[in-house]
Amino acid sequence: MNMVEIIEKKKLAQALTREEIEWFVQGAANGSIPDYQLAALLMAIRLNGMNREETVQLTLAMAHSGDICDLSALPGIPVDKHSTGGVGDTTTLILAPLVAACGVPVAKMSGRGLGHTGGTLDKLESIPGLRVDLSEEAFLRQVRDIGVAVIGQTKNLAPADKTLYALRDVTATVDSLPLIASSIVSKKLASGAQGVVLDVKTGAGALMHTTEASIELAQTMVRIGCDAGRRMMALVTDMGEPLGSHVGNALEVKEAIDALSGRVQGPLLEVSLELGARMLMLADAATNVADAKQKLMDALESGRGLDRLRAMIAAQGGDPACCDDVTRLPQAPVVRDVPAATSGYVQQMDTVGLGSAAQAMGAGRRVKTDVIDPAVGFVMRCRIGDRIAAGEALATVHARDEATAQAAGEAIRRCVAVGVQKAAPCKLIHAIVTHDGVERL
Ligand code: URA
Ligand code: CA
Repeated sequence: MNMVEIIEKKKLAQALTREEIEWFVQGAANGSIPDYQLAALLMAIRLNGMNREETVQLTLAMAHSGDICDLSALPGIPVDKHSTGGVGDTTTLILAPLVAACGVPVAKMSGRGLGHTGGTLDKLESIPGLRVDLSEEAFLRQVRDIGVAVIGQTKNLAPADKTLYALRDVTATVDSLPLIASSIVSKKLASGAQGVVLDVKTGAGALMHTTEASIELAQTMVRIGCDAGRRMMALVTDMGEPLGSHVGNALEVKEAIDALSGRVQGPLLEVSLELGARMLMLADAATNVADAKQKLMDALESGRGLDRLRAMIAAQGGDPACCDDVTRLPQAPVVRDVPAATSGYVQQMDTVGLGSAAQAMGAGRRVKTDVIDPAVGFVMRCRIGDRIAAGEALATVHARDEATAQAAGEAIRRCVAVGVQKAAPCKLIHAIVTHDGVERL
């Protein structure tokens, strides 16, 4: 095989063969193809696309570029959930313990924050002592013993994706449907869960900005997953504003604990229940959405969900007492309200801008080597559609010092558009995508 010929073919918008795809994916995984040739091919794929068969072959080749985690020894049908990346989106920390409390094993490999989006691993690591770098054996043992584990990807999981993703990030080739779908689904196939619920975000703060593009991504991923023999479905959910009110690592853990303690209502809990309900259904643990949601609410109200989180934190070396006393989580020294400049209705939010504001405070990384400050971030005090008076708090920032509190406050004020017209609250769920088709809501 010859890399120049493969690039040439895709440059001319021709379809690559399975052999060609397997060859360059292997080369990406073992380092035998130089970055400049891979980057050129990625741009050709970004510009000329891939057909359905090519996308399937790319996904399978990437999944098999490293280890495939074998969860067959676990009882029941292990399930996972994956989000394409959001802001204030801490559904995993709420639904994983709730689903486990309903008797369905949750074996989840999560990611770190990327750009303006938060990552479950970074959030979990804000819990004092907690470790996410478990071996495959420890991961399996924990799921068997307590029903739930949320860890980082084991080292040799889809290594081709590690190479290709790093190149895409710096060559403006992230926003390609076949590249996103293959990247996400290859990792889900390799991490071994039998059932996977995808949370495909849509709106200004998401990878795909329009509902139709998000549905197309969801359909592509669901099709590949089902063709590969897994149970997979997707919800297309809104990212027109942060999902929960808390943005920042320890702050989002606190919101998840509050939710599991019955202290949080609203969109974050609602979307967590919708996603969790589908996980129960994929695992044959519920017959319909209403039945599944009732089981999850029973787990929440009885405290069994919070018990699972406590057990998971303890098993991964963290301080389980955080679940009963959230002040044991890292606290930022400077806490300041951000007053609204004018009265009116919240019309719109710049979700990317809000995520970037949290990142700039230290809640995310700008370069790979940045160290995250677990305590910082902010709590939104309004949602789209709310009425707000001048001087009332739009948000409360939790900062390391006065200067960053000031800068974050100004950024948040720029991200929240307040106007005289009434505005409708955001729709939370735009579509449900299964192997059988799309239901637009
Ligand atoms: N998340 C991934 O893992 N891969 C992508 O390509 C985009 C989001
Ligand atoms: Ca293995």
